Amino acid sequence: MSAEPIVVTQALTRRFGDLTAVDALTLEVRRGEVFGLLGRNGAGKSTFIKMLTTLLPPTSGTARIAGFDLVHEAAAVRRVIGYVPQALSADGEL
Ligand SMILES: Nc1ncnc2c1ncn2[C@@H]1O[C@H](COP(=O)(O)OP(=O)(O)OP(=O)(O)O)[C@@H](O)[C@H]1O
Ligand SMILES: [Mg+2]
Repeated sequence: MSAEPIVVTQALTRRFGDLTAVDALTLEVRRGEVFGLLGRNGAGKSTFIKMLTTLLPPTSGTARIAGFDLVHEAAAVRRVIGYVPQALSADGEL
């Protein structure tokens, strides 16, 4: 098994105009590790996850998921991740 962390972010940043929602977040999550992201309302958790799932481009910084570059290999990242959101956007009757 590769020793490379499954998630690596380096100074990952997202701004909305003057607001910095995620400010140079640098972290590593190792393979097999369970990682919890805690923070007050508006701390930037959802924005961070949206970037990691390729749904929102970072303003600056880099990230690698399973060795794939988040921005330049987004399709490969999507193939190796699963995402269950807090609120389902699909019709509940489905
Ligand atoms: N599309 C957007 N346009 C402008 N500002 C945004 C946008 N998305 C998020 N923000 C702002 O970025 C900040 C971080 O929001 P985010 O939703 O990431 O926080 P959160 O930690 O997920 O909060 P919660 O615990 O309430 O879910 C907030 O100030 C929010 O208003
Ligand atoms: Mg949120």
